[in-house]
Amino acid sequence: MLDAQSATAAPPIIRREEYRAPDWLVPEVELDFALDPAATRIKARFHVTRNGAHHRPLRLDGDGLTALSVTIDGAADDDAWRMAGDDLLIDLSGESHLIETEVEISPQANTQLMGLYASTGMLCTQCEPEGFRRITFFPDRPDILSRYTVRLEADKARFPVLLSNGDLVGSGDLDGGRHFARWVDPFPKPTYLFALVAADLKANVDQFATMSGRNVKLAIWVAEADLPKTGHAMAALKASMAWDEKVYGREYDLGEFNIVAVADFNFGAMENKSLNIFNSRYVLADPETATDADFDAVAGVVAHEYFHNWSGNRVTCRDWFQLSLKEGFTVFRDQAFSADQGSPAVKRIEDVRGLRAAQFPEDAGPLAHPIRPESYIEISNFYTATVYNKGAEIIRMLHTMLGPQRFRAGTDLYFTRHDGTAATCEDFVLAMEEASGVDLSRFRLWYSQAGTPRVKATLTHEAASGRAHLTLEQSVPATPGQPDKQPMPIPLRLDLFGEKTQRSFGGERLVMLDDDRLDVTFEGIGERPVLSINRGFSAPVIIETDRSAADLAFLSAHDDDPFARYEAMQQLMLDTLVGSVANGKADHGPVIEAVQRTLTDPMLDSAFIGEAVLLPSEGFIGDQMLVVDPQAIHQAREALRRDLGTTLSDAWRDAYDRSRANRFEQTPQAKGARRLRNVSLGFMMAGKATDVPGIAKDQFDAADNMTDRQGALGILSNVYAPERDAAFSDFYARYRDNGLVLDKWFTTQALSVRPDTIDQVIDLADHPDFTLNNPNRLRSLVGALSANQLVFHDPSGRGYRFLADMVLAVDKLNPQTAAKLVPPLGRWRRFGETAQTAMRAELERIVSTPGLSKDVFEQVSKSLV
Ligand code: PHE
Ligand code: ZN
Repeated sequence: MLDAQSATAAPPIIRREEYRAPDWLVPEVELDFALDPAATRIKARFHVTRNGAHHRPLRLDGDGLTALSVTIDGAADDDAWRMAGDDLLIDLSGESHLIETEVEISPQANTQLMGLYASTGMLCTQCEPEGFRRITFFPDRPDILSRYTVRLEADKARFPVLLSNGDLVGSGDLDGGRHFARWVDPFPKPTYLFALVAADLKANVDQFATMSGRNVKLAIWVAEADLPKTGHAMAALKASMAWDEKVYGREYDLGEFNIVAVADFNFGAMENKSLNIFNSRYVLADPETATDADFDAVAGVVAHEYFHNWSGNRVTCRDWFQLSLKEGFTVFRDQAFSADQGSPAVKRIEDVRGLRAAQFPEDAGPLAHPIRPESYIEISNFYTATVYNKGAEIIRMLHTMLGPQRFRAGTDLYFTRHDGTAATCEDFVLAMEEASGVDLSRFRLWYSQAGTPRVKATLTHEAASGRAHLTLEQSVPATPGQPDKQPMPIPLRLDLFGEKTQRSFGGERLVMLDDDRLDVTFEGIGERPVLSINRGFSAPVIIETDRSAADLAFLSAHDDDPFARYEAMQQLMLDTLVGSVANGKADHGPVIEAVQRTLTDPMLDSAFIGEAVLLPSEGFIGDQMLVVDPQAIHQAREALRRDLGTTLSDAWRDAYDRSRANRFEQTPQAKGARRLRNVSLGFMMAGKATDVPGIAKDQFDAADNMTDRQGALGILSNVYAPERDAAFSDFYARYRDNGLVLDKWFTTQALSVRPDTIDQVIDLADHPDFTLNNPNRLRSLVGALSANQLVFHDPSGRGYRFLADMVLAVDKLNPQTAAKLVPPLGRWRRFGETAQTAMRAELERIVSTPGLSKDVFEQVSKSLV
């Protein structure tokens, strides 16, 4: 937080081009923690060595710390050091000096959840990106790598478990009921990867034999009662370790690997060296409390954090502008892992849906930035869908262009060359370029240009010559600070199918669109071809074609790329819905036919059908329009859902009955069946037959798993029926003591499209179980509301006001989490005049509030420009 005085002045902007190597290095550090929730004492002892010829003082970052003592080379010389704002400056004359400091902090008063904090009786840390400076004075930047020795001391009864990075080298009892543990991490690491945990937890312990035959002890630490919910995370951990050996040749490098689950956590999880700390929602799962999607998220996040051991820890980032170096690459790795573990087609569909829901709007709005940003006020604001998910798409394009072998040669070179150092995105691209021999000069534009490129594809056919001509034209939209764009190299997997033969002409090819325009001629095209383009979503772009409804329906039935098949259906639905919003009505016929064909195709599996028949979200429909009218979009989409529900009533009921299971199973088949069953029930409800609320309530009551129970609850949430109210009160009574499940109770109500939802949400903020202190709970209500396009944009403006109130309230406790709530208000330009005025007014109200954090200030001020 800013102090009162500097809150009025704009906070400083940090720029990528101003990077300078550190003035002082810290090869080794010893930390001594006397842990206590109210007052923890930290002694730090380290040698600094001058880096290069300069006369600059040593700057130790601090955030809210007071030095109790500072000694230099063993002597207290209070003239040699001074405070500069929050930082500690020391004048040093020699090449190497010993620095010792002592500070005291209060973990239980730390509501930011950055640094050392208390959560449900335990003490834990979060240091990325700049939390270490809230623990002790230190040069808190990722290009200073130090070897850590850590001594932890705490009350033994309250904190029987004491963990830090690396290997445990000593422990024992002390006077007064206290005990200690010493940990040494042999791998030099930046501050952001430091972690400690002091807690009363139990571990699910297992082991893994690495490729070179070393045994690694694996432990997942949770409250004793939660031990039965750790099996899935443990299985995912072992699978990830084996996968990284097989696919990337990367072996784990320490004797143990710990995961700790924490209830209060700002993000998903954190890859601290050998001591991953997780938001408990990404550790705990059993069928009673977790949906199939939750299970998948647990496995995906466990893999993500484990993979960081190489892409992030062994090779780390030189500065925070390089964040996508570790995040984009690691997301790409976890996506590929999950695809290998289950259905690659469904995984790709889910990932692209996520990208379109979160990253495309970001790229099209006031907060757009390249995956390697040029500047920031608060780096925490750049843990975005762009850096993570678009970053992953950019690595995926390299994989597509180079092919698996050359890509692997590139990652091998990258890991070997940069092991133990702090690298840049440029280092990664250079390694790819050198190992593959492929010129990536123009590809680098993907790192520097923001905005989603648009590709217009026009296909013509000359029956007489048997030729087809494809014209591809690209344009990259202007984004803040980047008015003019260069054309990007765009790898497009494409294919042509004969309309009558339903066969491909010569198979798929990869076309590189690397200029404004490209003309491609195809020979031997004897009948009218239908274009299948951006297959597998080979590039994160928006494709515009003039394909007719008939062509899209054809592809949705005959394309041999499952993603392209899904995509054709989505485009058909989207065209229909956009037309319907514009004209107040539309011909639903082609969509209904295509859905029916997919639903009854015996060759397709349930999991795929469940995805393919879903209509695009209201948000995504809005993204296609110049001026978004949430009410009109909702009506058009509901009309199509109702029509699908009634016209295909028998098919939905048939699919619903077919997918019924007697007992819960974790197999892909059973999971696909649950998906299709819930999707079918949703369409049955949309058809408004009077028996459906009863069917949904029966499913809710009989469910032996959370997928079925929450599925039924979500569908009931949208209707007025006694079954709805009964289900919500049953759900609450059943799960009121389980925080993660109670989050679902809040979310499901906030996602309802019933007209009274906005009132319910405002009331729920006063519910005794609601709290601003727990980020999961906060997002379960507030995040869900802003994802609910219809209700958030309630014409009364109450959705906007509620969100702004929450931002202001949370900012006082946890600026990082408050700032992440802002983007939905920043999208005001896309809405009608009344909405625009109301949304802007809320942003103005926030920005003119005294004492605002720089986190929220940055998001709001950029949103107003
Ligand atoms: N580095 C973490 C991840 O991507 C995310 C994170 C960032 C967690 C900042 C906490 C704080 O896995
Ligand atoms: Zn990550």
